[in-house]
Amino acid sequence: QNKEGPKDFLHISDFDKDTILSILKRAGEVKTLLKSGDRSFQPFKGKSMAMIFAKPSMRTRVSFETGFFLLGGHAIYLGPDDIQMGKREETRDVARVLSGYNDIIMARVFGHQDILDLAKYAPVPVINGLTDYNHPCQIMADALTMIEHIGQIENTKVVYVGDGNNIVHSWLLLASIVPFHFVCACPRGFEPDEKTVEKARSTGISKIEITNDLKEAVKGADVIYSDVWASMGQKDEAEYRKQCFQGFQVDEALMEIAGPQAFFMHCLPAERGVEVTDGVIEAPKSIVFPQAENRMHAQNAIMLHLLGV
Ligand code: CP
Ligand code: NVA
Repeated sequence: QNKEGPKDFLHISDFDKDTILSILKRAGEVKTLLKSGDRSFQPFKGKSMAMIFAKPSMRTRVSFETGFFLLGGHAIYLGPDDIQMGKREETRDVARVLSGYNDIIMARVFGHQDILDLAKYAPVPVINGLTDYNHPCQIMADALTMIEHIGQIENTKVVYVGDGNNIVHSWLLLASIVPFHFVCACPRGFEPDEKTVEKARSTGISKIEITNDLKEAVKGADVIYSDVWASMGQKDEAEYRKQCFQGFQVDEALMEIAGPQAFFMHCLPAERGVEVTDGVIEAPKSIVFPQAENRMHAQNAIMLHLLGV
């Protein structure tokens, strides 16, 4: 395991700016190596990872499993019906049992407390693969994508459009260590967690705006970012939410207001025709697929950091 800093990767703001930027740099280096076809770098040889999923996934599951495999390790997928953490067995028991077999644990859960408990009781590193509260691996991949397409995160303007959800909380936590201009434009009543906004603002690192004025918000943005209006666990509210989010679709007219420099990003899965039009997601300025690919590269570097290799 890494000698300094937190054992786990639970929130981006648990790390300092230098560490986060060095993980992103490493992600780029290992990406270049893997893209060249070179498979000689096998730092995870002889290691195994348990991946716990209480929710569905494509990107998180496949990028972790493939990434760990490409670097020599073996990853075990545990789906919602397998260990049923917190139901069939207490989280603190799962944590210690899995740590007896595995070198690292990745988990996607509902309640944030579950990932905190898992990390507290597991002697091995735990990676947060999304909770109802945040999604740090996603925003690490997003940051890597921005570095590749814009050259930097610092001094950019990122405008998130939609629900003040787990994705927004991770953006806010990134903004509390790396300086940029972050705007969350959401309908009234769907603002992000106030404590997290306060925490990010109190650091004084970034300019942070939470607004209901979408058109004003997007002007001059380097990135327009969107996500589903109903997250996993909220799918029964989807119709109600569609009403509440009227006017918050990212369409061609909104991208026009943002300006020609603006890239479109989305963590995916996307509901085309709901939070974003088909035209925007398919436009040349859309970088959603490089962004999805970077999940693997960002996470490889996170795992390298946590395992100290
Ligand atoms: N963006 C993301 O986490 O995708 P999955 O839900 O498919 O893992
Ligand atoms: N906010 C979404 C992100 C999916 C990657 C959700 O939690 O479902």
